[in-house]
Amino acid sequence: MSENQDNFSNKNDEYEYDPAVLEQIREAKIRRQRADELARDRLHAKMILFGGGLVIILAIIIFISLEGKSTSTENTSSSSDDQTASYAADDLTSIAENNADSSDTAENGGDTENTNTGDYSGQAEGHTLVTENGITYVDGILIVNKTFSLPSDYDPGLDPEAEAAFYEMAGAAWEDGITLWIASGYRTYDYQDELFDRYATERGLDEADKISARPGHSEHQSGLCMDINDPSSSFNGTAEAIWLEEHCAEYGFIVRFPEGKEDITGYEYEPWHLRYVGVEIAQDITNQGLCLEEYLNVTSDYADSLENEDFIEKYAAYETSSSEDTSVEYGE
Ligand code: DAL
Ligand code: ZN
Repeated sequence: MSENQDNFSNKNDEYEYDPAVLEQIREAKIRRQRADELARDRLHAKMILFGGGLVIILAIIIFISLEGKSTSTENTSSSSDDQTASYAADDLTSIAENNADSSDTAENGGDTENTNTGDYSGQAEGHTLVTENGITYVDGILIVNKTFSLPSDYDPGLDPEAEAAFYEMAGAAWEDGITLWIASGYRTYDYQDELFDRYATERGLDEADKISARPGHSEHQSGLCMDINDPSSSFNGTAEAIWLEEHCAEYGFIVRFPEGKEDITGYEYEPWHLRYVGVEIAQDITNQGLCLEEYLNVTSDYADSLENEDFIEKYAAYETSSSEDTSVEYGE
């Protein structure tokens, strides 16, 4: 008899298992079950690892493609006619938030290497100049002046952060017996075109250029500035003008066209025209006694603008000066 046959006996033509064999079978089943569970756990672990890896790889690919997109627009610029991108007010807010980080660069007098090799080469030496969708930022600060323009369809409205800062400032001024209001905030490209045309027609091109921006070159189109109370020379020296000069930086504003900086900003003194740049930068600029062009090392000159040729043609027929006495009132 073989050893196997020792373990069971034949009863009624059926085999009856020996209890020891049954125990072995039970243990074998348990071992098999455990092995199955282990295999399943290993499979789950592999799937989780694979899935996680896939997510990480996808995130890296998205990050690299976004980075590439942003780099490709850096230090390049294109005419506003080419721009079809939509503009979000959020962009401005995030730029304003970025200002705080960028201010270190400006404070250090420009430790950052200038990488501007686009249409605005030679501008913002020692700073970082980026043109995105036809809008130029230096160290994260949106710049619009006679050199730098905004696309004609750039239409953000008054920046909510700048507006909130104004009302906070107006509240503080009120406590000091000073009443402030916004006489002119956001202005469209078309409105500015009409406004400048009116000044140029009444006063001649040279006079108009000292007090009003050509279309696409007004800070009012950025939604980041506002004229307070009375945008005319009769505001100069008033208690309101003095209060603003002394306090506006505490709320994130600078007097954009200061007295004595006319040759640099390209405009007459405008104590009513405030530009919002955020508290840290406003205080830095004000404490150093600089205008924005000096702070960012840029020019304000139509000869350096991308629209120069168009403007020469557009305003060729305008008189350069007028015989009217326009010395007192000017504005907006
Ligand atoms: N008055 C300022 C320069 C403007 O027109 O934007
Ligand atoms: Zn203004």
